[in-house]
Amino acid sequence: MKTAPKSVPNSAVPRHVAIIMDGNGRWARRRGLARIHGHREGAESLRAVLRACRTTGVAYLTVYAFSSENWARPRDEVNALMSLLVRFLRREEKELHDNRVRLRHIGRLADLPKTVQRELNRVMAATAGYEEHQLVLALSYGGREEIVHAARRIAQRVKQGDLDPDAVDAAVVAQHLYAPDIPDPDLMIRTSGEMRISNFLLWQLSYSELYVTDTLWPDFREREFAAALEAYAGRHRRFGKVEERNPRRARRRGAADRP
Ligand code: FPP
Repeated sequence: MKTAPKSVPNSAVPRHVAIIMDGNGRWARRRGLARIHGHREGAESLRAVLRACRTTGVAYLTVYAFSSENWARPRDEVNALMSLLVRFLRREEKELHDNRVRLRHIGRLADLPKTVQRELNRVMAATAGYEEHQLVLALSYGGREEIVHAARRIAQRVKQGDLDPDAVDAAVVAQHLYAPDIPDPDLMIRTSGEMRISNFLLWQLSYSELYVTDTLWPDFREREFAAALEAYAGRHRRFGKVEERNPRRARRRGAADRP
């Protein structure tokens, strides 16, 4: 059964939540630990938030697990993150099955080490039949790279005579992104207080609500997630239009406006 936080009606639960999981390194440093300890604890937060998505009725969870810029980190940290990812996939597989959660990936799969590719492909194939909940891992992902990738595919289709250049509009671009069937995020959460998008889902975040918390990602668990859902439920989404908050006034004005 879906149970949104008490103050959040089910109708105000976001369908798609995207998260920049930031602050693992600072969490570790504050405890005098190596950065990888922060990442390990961050993996526990991801498990907790994925569980919270299922219980609250969030259908899609996209997390920024490794950006295209993260390859520039020290080799030891990159290797440790890749091993952690493989362990996460092996450990999480049963829970994904038990709860019918589909695993997806966005980013440049071919950049990842072969062991990571193998595990990802295996778990993605094994869970491909599930639809109700989806966990999307952004790995070797960059928003600009995704748009460039889409532009290249569109250019190829134009060159082949398969697509008229005048027919290229926002919907066509969106169809050529990594996961075109996934709706845009309703809510984007960033932990650790940084006010940046950091090359994450540049196209898809156009009208997402943003929620930034000072909490570091390893400390972000069910309670913090519930607080983010509550904040989202209080937002008024206008998508660039004028919002009519008073339906009676809207009806009166509608009558007056009629010719
Ligand atoms: C940012 O924190 C975090 C990352 C670059 C990696 C995110 C990875 C995890 C949460 C590990 C678990 C994920 C999976 C899929 C197993 P940071 O290191 O930049 O923190 P800092 O800004 O405090 O240094």
